[in-house]
Amino acid sequence: MRSWKSGFVAVLMAAVSVAAFAEYDKATMQEVMQNNLANLPKLSAAADAARYMEAAGDLLSIATGMYSIKDYTPLKGDKAAWDQTITAFLATAFRGLAACADQNQAGLKAAVAELVRLRNLGHAAFRP
Ligand code: HEM
Repeated sequence: MRSWKSGFVAVLMAAVSVAAFAEYDKATMQEVMQNNLANLPKLSAAADAARYMEAAGDLLSIATGMYSIKDYTPLKGDKAAWDQTITAFLATAFRGLAACADQNQAGLKAAVAELVRLRNLGHAAFRP
């Protein structure tokens, strides 16, 4: 007979596996991407003009959206590569925020360029 402990562990494991998985939601994806599309040119202009407060707001908005889709399984492409790309994308956004804190314009511009590179990579790999 199963003890209450093994039952508890089974429930806990099920909860953990659900927490790490989220079903791909196309409407949410498109909302997040439209937000990216609206913010990226603003971010780029703010970086060029050394407007750090504005750049930080744009970076945070982009990062918040991308964080919300990180547990999706893409319709096209590999889930492990998706995880890696989104992790790199979020880390780059945080490096951009750190550059804002330091008023480091070169660092901020490098972060923006890397976000663009990861966007291109992500679209080539995962866009259906
Ligand atoms: C700032 C960076 C990015 C911008 C500006 C951007 C922009 C866009 C735009 C405008 C669309 C079309 C949305 C629509 O149909 O309404 C799109 C779709 C998509 N993007 Fe991005 N994107 C960015 C980063 C990324 C990254 C890093 C990934 C993957 C890791 C990604 C994956 C996708 C996918 C899978 C779709 C297709 C969504 C669907 O229709 O199912 N994007 N993106």
